[in-house]
Amino acid sequence: MSKRIKDIGTLDGDVLLFGGAYSNLQATEALVGEAERRGISSTNIICTGDLVAYCADPTSVCDLLVDRVHCVAGNCERQIAEGASDCGCGFSEGTACDLASRGWYPYASQRLDGYLDSFRDLPDAVTFMYQDARYVVIHGGFNDISRFIWPSDAEGVFEREISAIERETGPINAVVAGHSGLAFQRQIGSRLWINAGVIGMPPHDGRPQTRYAVLSPDGVRFHALTYDYEAAAQALINAGLTQGYEKALVSGYWPAEDILPRELRR
Ligand SMILES: [Fe+2]
Repeated sequence: MSKRIKDIGTLDGDVLLFGGAYSNLQATEALVGEAERRGISSTNIICTGDLVAYCADPTSVCDLLVDRVHCVAGNCERQIAEGASDCGCGFSEGTACDLASRGWYPYASQRLDGYLDSFRDLPDAVTFMYQDARYVVIHGGFNDISRFIWPSDAEGVFEREISAIERETGPINAVVAGHSGLAFQRQIGSRLWINAGVIGMPPHDGRPQTRYAVLSPDGVRFHALTYDYEAAAQALINAGLTQGYEKALVSGYWPAEDILPRELRR
């Protein structure tokens, strides 16, 4: 099936890039505040998908982001819109992610009936021009939305993804992706691969702050997002979502490392 690619034209000034709001209302509110503080308007804010996932406030997060900022579909939005039984990450039965998703996935999907049409309308990719360079925004992999692409992956992984993208979009200079939960950038030949990170869960580094990125004429910079993680964790506990993410928000470490490649584990 061909991809739905939405072109949003040429952007000027600073552009705020983020992903993985993960139903984390406190982090989303902090991000919106950060955009205001930096004077970045909603037309210059782009989300790499997964508005909803592990945390307690899927509806309120969608109220703040859907139809307000540019957004590509994450696997969570796609799966919920299709009425699928899980988040579609493809993890094995019995793994920590599998067990945790039995908690948060039905919790989120039961609360989003009002957003199913919006989720279906989300594009697979967004393209834009910035400083004479052409950017494409995707979620995980281009042909596999749930593909985890890690900073430690071989250069060929990125090259093949870029080739797959360019078959649909034509030549590009940079990719902005999400899904894996880790912010990073890699130069792949003449192209730049950026993972904008996620705001809804810390990047497994032992600190509760999460990540977003700002693209400016000087390049891309990653920033720590400080927010009320204790309130976000308490909201999970209050909702009965105690599969481990309530602890991860505070400790800064993911509930398990089984999705991470060995070299990125603790
Ligand atoms: Fe995802």
